[in-house]
Amino acid sequence: MTTAKSENTSPGRILVVGGYGAVGAVVTATLTDWFPGRVVPAGRDAARARRLGGVRADVARPEEFARTLDTLADVSVVVLCVEPPDAEIARICLRRGVHLVDIGATPRLLTAVADLHDEAVAAGATAVLSVGVAPGLTNLLARRVHEAVGGAERLDITVLLGSGERHGGDAVRWTVEGLAEPVEASPRRTALPGYGTRAAHPFPFSDQHTLPTTLGVPEVTTRLCLDSRPLTSMLFALRRTGLLHTARHPAVRRTLTGVVRRVHIGGDGFAVRADARRGDHHAALALTGHGQSRTTGLVAAHVTRELLTGTPPTGVHHIEQLPPLTTLPNTLSTTHDITLHHYDDPPGPAAQ
Ligand SMILES: NC(=O)c1ccc[n+]([C@@H]2O[C@H](COP(=O)([O-])OP(=O)(O)OC[C@H]3O[C@@H](n4cnc5c(N)ncnc54)[C@H](OP(=O)(O)O)[C@@H]3O)[C@@H](O)[C@H]2O)c1
Repeated sequence: MTTAKSENTSPGRILVVGGYGAVGAVVTATLTDWFPGRVVPAGRDAARARRLGGVRADVARPEEFARTLDTLADVSVVVLCVEPPDAEIARICLRRGVHLVDIGATPRLLTAVADLHDEAVAAGATAVLSVGVAPGLTNLLARRVHEAVGGAERLDITVLLGSGERHGGDAVRWTVEGLAEPVEASPRRTALPGYGTRAAHPFPFSDQHTLPTTLGVPEVTTRLCLDSRPLTSMLFALRRTGLLHTARHPAVRRTLTGVVRRVHIGGDGFAVRADARRGDHHAALALTGHGQSRTTGLVAAHVTRELLTGTPPTGVHHIEQLPPLTTLPNTLSTTHDITLHHYDDPPGPAAQ
């Protein structure tokens, strides 16, 4: 499969779908600073989108979306800040040679977009997947620790989210859907800088499904905990009862999403940690910050800038497969309140 370099000299516009949501608003604002006059925020609320200088777009209506792209005529990148039902929106973009940045976190959807690789290459377009905190920064940390042990046999990723942060509705819907999924792995205790040693529970983050392919690591797990210990215990005890499986039904999911959105116990901090093991070798890296929605938006903006100003290979790639993006955690730690923590072996908290 060839992946020729694409020319990114096009001065076209940047369509940010979901561009006024919790993540999308950060993407819109950051890219507007970097590329004034070129950013078009979009969503289903036509009036709200127009007030922001944007357009109506609905990822659940592919034909209408295609017409919107054709009407705008000069879009060079679409940033998807909301999950579409399937890969149709990605196909529409890539077939037109329009680059794509996708912050989606559902394994099934990421696999469907990755399957468009050859179409993207043929059209000279690039798509970047696994963009955000988890997936996203977790993938980048995973690549670093994997390389540090000379090729990991096993990767364990831990994500801590702040239950006091006002997460966007679509992100909460995704989390509730994740709680409804059956799990096989067991919880694991991990030290997270600033949060002590925490019990984290298996959760269907997409990184554990894609990293075995992109890094060639046989075993990858990702676990979740919240900054509030009681809330973490309560949530996962509830999951063990099997009651949360009912969240597969749309009406129950909507109700639960509404309930979870109203719970604000804890802060807005987040932490992610990746541990790699190969025989006796162990390497670990962690990253902490505030506002996972904001950080996801910043990661998406940096990826978009790389597509517009760099020479990324055509085709569909996960963030950790693009070498210029592997230093993004360091870039964010110099420009934003993000801290990188290196661990010695045996693991123990250490300053940057
Ligand atoms: N990779 C990561 O680390 C990471 C982190 C956080 C979130 N995410 C993902 O990012 C997505 C957005 O999260 P969020 O917290 O920003 O959610 P949010 O605040 O609910 O924002 C969603 C935005 O999308 C728009 N929207 C909803 N349905 C749409 C549709 N069918 N077509 C077009 N626009 C639509 C909404 O506006 P209208 O309702 O007016 O259309 C809103 O502006 C979620 O899918 C979440 O899973 C990923």
